[in-house]
Amino acid sequence: MTLDSLSLISFKNIAEASLSFSPKVNCLLGDNGMGKSNLLDAIYTLSFTKSFTMVNDSMLVRRGDEFMTLRGEYTRNSTPEVVTLGLKPGRRKSLRRGGKEYSRLTEHIGLFPAVCVMPSDIDLLRGPGEERRRWMDMVISQSDSRYLEALVRYAAALEQRNRMLRDGVVDHNLYDAVEAAMEPAARYIHATRKAWTQRLTELFSRNYAAIAGDTGEEPALGFAGGLDRSPDGSLATLLDGARRHDEIVRHTSVGPHRDDIEMTLGGMPIRRTGSQGQCKSFTVALRMAQYEFLAEATGLKPLLLLDDIFDKLDAGRVERIMTMVTESNRFGQIFITDTNRTHLDDIMSRTGGDYRLWTVDRGVFTPSHIS
Ligand SMILES: Nc1ncnc2c1ncn2[C@@H]1O[C@H](COP(=O)(O)OP(=O)(O)OP(=O)(O)O)[C@@H](O)[C@H]1O
Ligand SMILES: [Mg+2]
Repeated sequence: MTLDSLSLISFKNIAEASLSFSPKVNCLLGDNGMGKSNLLDAIYTLSFTKSFTMVNDSMLVRRGDEFMTLRGEYTRNSTPEVVTLGLKPGRRKSLRRGGKEYSRLTEHIGLFPAVCVMPSDIDLLRGPGEERRRWMDMVISQSDSRYLEALVRYAAALEQRNRMLRDGVVDHNLYDAVEAAMEPAARYIHATRKAWTQRLTELFSRNYAAIAGDTGEEPALGFAGGLDRSPDGSLATLLDGARRHDEIVRHTSVGPHRDDIEMTLGGMPIRRTGSQGQCKSFTVALRMAQYEFLAEATGLKPLLLLDDIFDKLDAGRVERIMTMVTESNRFGQIFITDTNRTHLDDIMSRTGGDYRLWTVDRGVFTPSHIS
């Protein structure tokens, strides 16, 4: 899949811009705060209907302007596609594919897959389990709609059980009914996450080794699933054991909503002991694994958005990542930002003819080399 062109009106610090992209490598060069990440965010927002910065939608509209519009022209499975997103604070977000408005925004997610490597990925390592669950759920649900349904059903029943605990309900028959509704969803979520973590681990380990080189560093991912602690693998047994405790603390303390992924390097938790460069390598390898997983699962090569990917990495790792991203056929279309020409020039010289570069200055994009 490729994004052939993008038009933006009043998106963050970009008043108006129209860019035609290379199907291979697109470089954005500029000083801090000029709008490089904003452009990647616009591409991301068209794929996910939400910004990667997690800011409120109204913050996407350029200060002082009333509304913003994004329009992307894609080639997907050899077919041209147009996606537009319009946003006016206080109004419903408008998202159209081929001129037709979506009734539900979630229907769009996964159709135009993108993977972004960004500085805030460090939160995947250092943040709370919620970050890793959100990530896992986002990736899996792009290729498995049944999983998304299970998440929704589980969350609704969990909310009901928590409300009962808060209200001090004591009738156990009521709990049994709600817990029975949680069981099948919990089992599906658990089994899917477990299998996914296994597959991701294989992809991740290969990518980490390719980035870190021959350092003997041993990275590992482990799924820490709540249901694994249940003697018979059922949520019912787990909840049963926790009910007294849950009644006291007034919320549900066990279940898939507490699952986590343990991330270690050389047997130590990376979040505590990893160096800056090791953490960065770890997150880049996680994103590359995510890319490969999505490409396998959807049959489409996602857009690859690389924001400040070389930051904190030593020369050897930078070199190996450049080799990875310019290897032919591995990735599809790439968008990459840097504040410095050196890496970008190096990447372009390895890519052959098919690249473009823009310099970015206060939200204005100037094509600087079009091959
Ligand atoms: N809604 C908005 N209206 C106007 N300007 C905005 C809005 N949202 C963000 N900005 C501006 O966009 C700029 C940040 O742009 P961006 O994050 O793309 O920079 P960058 O080129 O990636 O820089 P760096 O190299 O530091 O990562 C900031 O100056 C910020 O004030
Ligand atoms: Mg940036």
